[in-house]
Amino acid sequence: MLAVVVVLFLAVGVSDGVILSKCELKQQLERGLALQIPNSADVLAQIVCHVQLTSGFNTSTIKMIAEPEEPRGGRGPRRGRSPRGKNKDDSSSNESNENKSEVWTLYGLFQLSDHVVCNSTQSRALNLCRMTCDKLIDDNTSDDIACVQALVNAVTAPIPDRKAARHIHEMISLIHQPECMAMKASSYFADCQTP
Ligand SMILES: *[C@@H]1O[C@H](CO)[C@@H](O)[C@H](O)[C@H]1NC(C)=O
Ligand SMILES: *[C@@H]1O[C@H](CO)[C@@H](O)[C@H](O)[C@H]1NC(C)=O
Ligand SMILES: *[C@@H]1O[C@H](CO)[C@@H](O)[C@H](O)[C@H]1NC(C)=O
Ligand SMILES: *[C@@H]1O[C@H](CO)[C@@H](O)[C@H](O)[C@H]1NC(C)=O
Ligand SMILES: *[C@@H]1O[C@H](CO)[C@@H](O)[C@H](O)[C@H]1NC(C)=O
Repeated sequence: MLAVVVVLFLAVGVSDGVILSKCELKQQLERGLALQIPNSADVLAQIVCHVQLTSGFNTSTIKMIAEPEEPRGGRGPRRGRSPRGKNKDDSSSNESNENKSEVWTLYGLFQLSDHVVCNSTQSRALNLCRMTCDKLIDDNTSDDIACVQALVNAVTAPIPDRKAARHIHEMISLIHQPECMAMKASSYFADCQTP
């Protein structure tokens, strides 16, 4: 039985991604994510709920979406000022490639943006998690979870770079699922066995 599951896992993992269960993802996040905040159990439920609604627990999900509007009025042209200190090799970044209405590609379980957390051939922007985007769509979730941790750290600490802060908040508003906001661990995870 276990062998069948393992073989299936490998076969699926090569091409089409893996569908995790809600409880599997809960366990992985409990092991991999440190939430130093009150109500962390409910926040975990909200994160997993978000994954359920955005990617359906499919580790290979990719979606393209127009960059969200800026929350506060600033409509001027986006003058390129690259996030200082974020990219070591700034020579590769070409800000003149950055247009006003950009397409963001959202990767993986957590639907993280190539303009914020990772780099791809389309985008070399912020790269908060310092990884290539295709790492977010393989079936190894440990780097995905490490990246969520980096995001959590970034939003719970002051972000000195304003453009970086704006992009991070745009991404969060984009992937934010209102249905998940009031989620409680006790009900959402009621069907998960506690080990
Ligand atoms: C997971 O998503 C990928 C990319 O969208 C898709 O090709 C694959 O069929 C999906 N897997 C399942 C089991 O739905
Ligand atoms: C930046 O982009 C412009 C036009 O898109 C191009 O002409 C220029 O060579 C690029 N510079 C670098 C350093 O890639
Ligand atoms: C940016 O917009 C200009 C015209 O508005 C277009 O020619 C160019 O291809 C766009 N660049 C990118 C990287 O989308
Ligand atoms: C992402 O950035 C790294 C260096 O920061 C570079 O080596 C790599 O080629 C980039 N990946 C893509 C897909 O552009
Ligand atoms: C997943 O990737 C991490 C590095 O990102 C690596 O240390 C780990 O061994 C990988 N796990 C599996 C099951 O391949």
